Amino acid sequence: MESFALTIFGITSNLAQIKLIPALYDMEEKGILPDNMTIVGIARTAMSEMEFKNYIHSVLHLENIHHKHEIKEQVFQKLYKRLKYLNGQINDQNLYERLTKLLDRKNRIFYLATYPELYIQVFENLQKNKLNIQQDGWVRLMIEKPIGHDLKSAQELNKLLLEYFTEDQIYRLDHYLGKETLQNILTFRFANDIFEPMINKDHIDHIQILASEDFGIGKRGGYYDQVGALKDVGQNHQLQMLAFATMDAPSELSSKAVTKERIKILKNLTPLPQKIVYGQYEGYQKEVNVATDSNTDTFYALKTFINNERFKNVPVYIRAGKKLKQTVTEIAIIFKNPVNRLIKSNSGDEPNVLIYRIQPNEGIVLKILTKIPGLETKLQPEYMQYCYRIDPHNHYIPDPYERLLSDAMKGDQTFFNDAEEVETQWAFIDPLAENKNNPYIYKPGTWGPEEANKLIKEDGRTWLEPSMDFCRI
Ligand code: BG6
Repeated sequence: MESFALTIFGITSNLAQIKLIPALYDMEEKGILPDNMTIVGIARTAMSEMEFKNYIHSVLHLENIHHKHEIKEQVFQKLYKRLKYLNGQINDQNLYERLTKLLDRKNRIFYLATYPELYIQVFENLQKNKLNIQQDGWVRLMIEKPIGHDLKSAQELNKLLLEYFTEDQIYRLDHYLGKETLQNILTFRFANDIFEPMINKDHIDHIQILASEDFGIGKRGGYYDQVGALKDVGQNHQLQMLAFATMDAPSELSSKAVTKERIKILKNLTPLPQKIVYGQYEGYQKEVNVATDSNTDTFYALKTFINNERFKNVPVYIRAGKKLKQTVTEIAIIFKNPVNRLIKSNSGDEPNVLIYRIQPNEGIVLKILTKIPGLETKLQPEYMQYCYRIDPHNHYIPDPYERLLSDAMKGDQTFFNDAEEVETQWAFIDPLAENKNNPYIYKPGTWGPEEANKLIKEDGRTWLEPSMDFCRI
């Protein structure tokens, strides 16, 4: 691996604390970071070298649901040796002069873990100092979702990006694309021939996509209140989950071919502004940095269709929210009940369900009917399961940021969004967001407002209660 310098604008941001610094630690531990690679962290706060070291150390010891393992002092010291800190205002010329001096590597990655309003100042200053120019090496930019807040602003940001970088330098990051459990969907579907012939309208009754969290917005009110659930996770993570589960096989495993198939699904999604329900958890307006009369959604449930031959008339129901009953992310493909089922279950109709459980108890699971052992023929639903955490080989599941940083280091854009993909996602979301009505208030610890149940019940269906009966650890 070629050596390079990684500059993180916003090293004290929430993102850097919970995602980037832990991911870099893991990469250090595994020996993935190239020798002599340097990391420059930028923020406004003045910190001495010792204070910066303590800061990095304390961040690695923060409680973190995605990074729970032990921090080894030796690995920390090795990582810290690469780190340098620069403090200054983002528009301060002098900051970039100091940065230029530090960037001795020809290959560079700039990571924007800072507010979108500041991007332009970063770009202008990088340009003034020729830091975005590729000379005897490569320069890449990593930028987080959400890209813009609607189609128009996304188009403007994409245009702006292209004034300073070329498309192959821009790594638009939606960390769900880096999730092992999402990437394995492609392997499951395209490395095994037996399931793919069933993934279509002839066999599927409907699809459900869930991203529920049992916790609230924490200290992120300033960001979240401007965005809401639909734009925070619906516009990106959940649409990507749908794309992975329903896209056609790409012609090859290249960045262009895979992205093209994801985009085809996203382009075919039909927005149904009458079929979306918004919710807000009770007590949300009292959260820090949230407007006391806020009508921001912390929950939404919607119905859509993929307007192609393969999934014609197969409804897709998507829901997500904070302070719900459980923390679960999954895609469930509910198959049709056979018309003349020879052996019936006691409870009547019991469809087969294919579940991609993204988290927790990660797995790929098929719900089937089996005979209860005994002298009579009685049936029970059971799970055929592949479970990551009880994998006999004990493989380690990398954090998405580790995977995506590593892909950006290699120059592989397969699991990043290009401009067209991001804009296509907004084209689906905009008509839904424009028709936004006041959210229904729901009690924390429930599955959201009753209206969300009505949305699916009027089609004669119900939301699946996510099961914890498989892949138990
Ligand atoms: C982020 C959202 O993109 O994804 C958060 O801003 C959300 O609100 C998070 O909690 C979920 O990611 P994960 O990896 O914890 O499922």
